[in-house]
Amino acid sequence: MLKYTYYGHACFLLDDGAHKVLADPFLTGNPKAAIAAKDVSCDYILVSHAHGDHLGDAPDIAKRTEATIVAIPEVIGLCNEQAGAELKTHGMNLGGSVKLPFGKVRMTLALHSSGVAGGIACGFVIQMGGKTVYFAGDTALFHDMKLIGRKDSIDYALLPIGDNYTMGLEDAALAAQWLNAANVIPIHYDTWPVIEQDVKKYQELTESSTRAHVHIIQPGESLELK
Ligand code: NI
Ligand code: MN
Repeated sequence: MLKYTYYGHACFLLDDGAHKVLADPFLTGNPKAAIAAKDVSCDYILVSHAHGDHLGDAPDIAKRTEATIVAIPEVIGLCNEQAGAELKTHGMNLGGSVKLPFGKVRMTLALHSSGVAGGIACGFVIQMGGKTVYFAGDTALFHDMKLIGRKDSIDYALLPIGDNYTMGLEDAALAAQWLNAANVIPIHYDTWPVIEQDVKKYQELTESSTRAHVHIIQPGESLELK
């Protein structure tokens, strides 16, 4: 069984009962945060890029929990710098895969700026608990999403829908189609006024134009990924 818990913005936890994988833990200063950074427990932290609303509390959480940060080397460098310590880390880069105790992670393209020189923004395909989860990070719609969906059968796609900084509703619906995702969980919206969205409209748009089922998960809620 794989449980998804949404902590708000682009932060979520995947828990298979034996391992906990956290992503983009922007909690301090996040008006929608459903947990405090000091209360998070995890074994791995995936960081998609170095913008503050993604890297967030990763250095502090890694320092406290001894979780391993998985990110682009330049982002890892920034995490170590912010923590003032050598954290447990695993550096990788676009197109690479790695087997980790909980499963497998592939680092994918994202079309977005980086937040630290050289630290290209990325997404992740996560194989864990018998499921394949694609976390898009922050991204524009890009045509190679078709390749991501062709290489792996995506059970759940976590897609930003907030617009302004990332895809908006229509592009994120097209992303679901190009990924051929079975399920979509929208993220990265409603945190601030500039990314407020009608998530029901996204659900209607996506479910009427793709095979995907859209799950609207509020910060603090969990979903069993089936
Ligand atoms: Ni960003
Ligand atoms: Mn962002």
